[in-house]
Amino acid sequence: MADQDSRTGARYATPEVLDYVNRVHAAHDAGFARAFATPAFMPAIQVGPSEGRLLYLLMKLARVQKAVEVGTLAGYSAMHIARALPAGGHLWSVEYEPKHAAVARENLEAAGVGSRVTVEVGAGREVLPRLEVHGPFDAVFIDADKVNYDHYGRWAIANLRAGGIVLGDNAYLFGKLAEDSEPGRAMRGFHELVAAACDSVCIPTPDGLVLGIKR
Ligand code: SAH
Ligand code: DHB
Ligand code: MG
Repeated sequence: MADQDSRTGARYATPEVLDYVNRVHAAHDAGFARAFATPAFMPAIQVGPSEGRLLYLLMKLARVQKAVEVGTLAGYSAMHIARALPAGGHLWSVEYEPKHAAVARENLEAAGVGSRVTVEVGAGREVLPRLEVHGPFDAVFIDADKVNYDHYGRWAIANLRAGGIVLGDNAYLFGKLAEDSEPGRAMRGFHELVAAACDSVCIPTPDGLVLGIKR
């Protein structure tokens, strides 16, 4: 029988349970530990260890060779994606803040995946058109400014191969998805355009993770 509490997750995902499953399935080696420990000048808003691990597994399942990320921060999610790529695969990750990009490059280099990742500095809306020459892509992961998710989502659908995957973090918009605000409208636009172009779901991570497979 359906269980309201387990569907919301509120009852069972205790800190102890989450510590345990993260330790068993998503333990950090030195590379991940370094990228997860964001310096004080950066917000600690990277994906969680299990979300990072999910990104890695999805990249492997979809046999992703060429991926794009919007929002690099210190390179933690980029490291999960990069480690899933086969030899010759590549990730282009877009970051607005030059200081974040510099830290990310150091972290990715230290983890041995520096040559597989290009960190592009600039606003997503400016940088993405320049990446089109490398496409079509197998995966696009969106995790940057929420007011532009509809724009990034449209770009992803236009630049993914059929069967490629689009992912969007913070799909519940910190609980404000239904609000009549600019980010609310943009995030709902993202959900709806992904649902229209893909087989899709919003995975119930703490803040929602949209996954779509382009038709
Ligand atoms: N994906 C990362 C976390 C990204 S946090 C991880 O899980 O490890 C969001 C990042 O997006 C921040 O570093 C922020 O500087 C960047 N950002 C904000 N606005 C942006 C824009 N317009 N274009 C690209 N990056 C942007
Ligand atoms: C914020 C951004 C994120 O991408 C996230 O996962 C959590 C918080 C933020 O801007 O506060
Ligand atoms: Mg996020």
